[in-house]
Amino acid sequence: MASTAEIDAATGAVHLQRFTVAYEYPVHFTERVFDPGNALLAEVLALREPDRRHRCVAFVDDGVLEARPGLVDEIVGYARHHAARMELAAAPFRVPGGERIKSELFFIEQMQQRLLEHRIDRHSYVIAIGGGAVLDAVGLVAAVTHRGVRLIRVPTTVLAQDDSGVGVKNGVNLSGVKNFCGTFAPPFAVLNDIDLLTGLSQRDKIAGMAEAVKVALIRDGAFFAWLERNADHLITFERAVLAQMIRRCAELHMRQIAHGGDPFETGSARPLDYGHWSAHKLESLTKHHLRHGEAVAIGIALDARYSVLAGLLAPGQDDRICALLEHLGFRLWHPALEARRPDGSLAILEGLREFREHLGGELTVTLLEDVGSGIEVHAIDETRMLAAITWLKERAQTP
Ligand SMILES: NC(=O)c1ccc[n+]([C@@H]2O[C@H](COP(=O)([O-])OP(=O)(O)OC[C@H]3O[C@@H](n4cnc5c(N)ncnc54)[C@H](O)[C@@H]3O)[C@@H](O)[C@H]2O)c1
Ligand SMILES: [Zn+2]
Repeated sequence: MASTAEIDAATGAVHLQRFTVAYEYPVHFTERVFDPGNALLAEVLALREPDRRHRCVAFVDDGVLEARPGLVDEIVGYARHHAARMELAAAPFRVPGGERIKSELFFIEQMQQRLLEHRIDRHSYVIAIGGGAVLDAVGLVAAVTHRGVRLIRVPTTVLAQDDSGVGVKNGVNLSGVKNFCGTFAPPFAVLNDIDLLTGLSQRDKIAGMAEAVKVALIRDGAFFAWLERNADHLITFERAVLAQMIRRCAELHMRQIAHGGDPFETGSARPLDYGHWSAHKLESLTKHHLRHGEAVAIGIALDARYSVLAGLLAPGQDDRICALLEHLGFRLWHPALEARRPDGSLAILEGLREFREHLGGELTVTLLEDVGSGIEVHAIDETRMLAAITWLKERAQTP
C-alpha cells in the first residue's frame, strides 16, 4: 500500500498554507492616565483611524474602585473631554477583582452580554482596568468576542504592570485548574500608570515584586543585585524606585516574548515560569489564599534550594535569594507544601504533572545555574525536592 506521502505527491493534494502575521503593541509608562490633560489614551485609541470617534466599553476592577471611588467619574469625564476621539458606549462596568472573576464562567458570559448589548464591534475597544485577574478575564472576553475585539489594558497592580499586563496571554480557571481556558492574544496597547498603584494594599504591592525577583534570577544578575541594593526603598514603595523596578521587569518579560522565539509557547518550555510549577499548585491548594506573587516567592525559594541540591547552583546562593525575598516581606513557607493526597503522596508534586500537561510534550522546568542565569531540566528528583521543602520549613522555624 502506498504511504500517505506518496498518495499526496501523486495527486498533488497538499497545498502548504503559510503566512506570517507581525504583532506590535505599545507599552506606555505614564502618570494620571485618566486626567483629561493626559491625551495618551485618546491618542492610542486613534492610532489606526485618526479621524474616527472610537466606541469603548470599560470594565473596572472593584478593588480599584474601592480604593478610588471617583474613578468611574474620572473615566466618564475623560471621555467627555476627548469626545472628538472617544465615546463610551456605556458607563464603565464594575467587575469583581481578584481570582473570583477567573473562577466562575458566569462573569465571562456577563461581560460578553454587555458587549452584545452595546453593539461592540471589531473596531471598538474594550478597556480593561484592573489587576492581573481582571486583565486575564477581560482579555479572554475581548479575544473571543467577534473573534477578537481590540483590547487596551490598564494594569492596576504591581504584578499586572511588571508582568501579566505586558504579555500576550489571557485565561480563566476551570475545575480548579489555573488558566485552563484562555488564548494567546496580544493587546492593542498597554498603559501603565504608576499613580493607579497608590491604593493597593501593602500585600499586593509586595506580591508583584516576586516576578521581578524571578525574571532577574533567570535573565539579569545585575538587576538582581539592584533589587538587593534597593530593597529598603522597595518596601517603602518609594515611587521612583518602584517605577524603575516595574519598568525593568516589564522590559525583560517583553524581550522574552519578542525575541525568545516562541511567543505563543508552542514548545515544551515556559522560560519565564521559573518557580511557577509549584506556585500554581500552591495557589489552588490554598484556594487562592496565597496571592500569585506570594506563591511565586515560595516557588522561587524552593527551586533555588533544589538547584543547589542538584549541584547546579553554588551553595549559599539559595540563602541569598531567600534573604532578598524575606527582606521584601515574603513568607517562604506555607503548610500546603506538606499537604498529602489520600494515597500518601505529596500534593505539591502534582504541580509538576499539571505544569507539563498545560503545555504537553516533555517536562521542562527552569532551574538556576547562577543568579541571573536559568537552565532547563527535564526531570525532577522527588526525594531531592522533598529535602528542599524540609529546608524551607526549617528555615521558617529558625528565629
Ligand atoms: N496572563 C499572564 O501572563 C499572567 C502572568 C502572571 C499572572 N497572571 C495572573 O494574574 C493574577 C494575579 O494578578 P495580581 O497579582 O495583579 O492580583 P489580582 O488581580 O488577583 O488582584 C489582587 C487584589 O487587588 C485588588 N486591586 C487591583 N488593583 C488595585 C488597586 N489599584 N488598588 C486597590 N486594590 C486593587 C483586586 O481587586 C484584588 O482584590 C493571577 O490570576 C495570575 O494567574 C497572569
Ligand atoms: Zn507569574
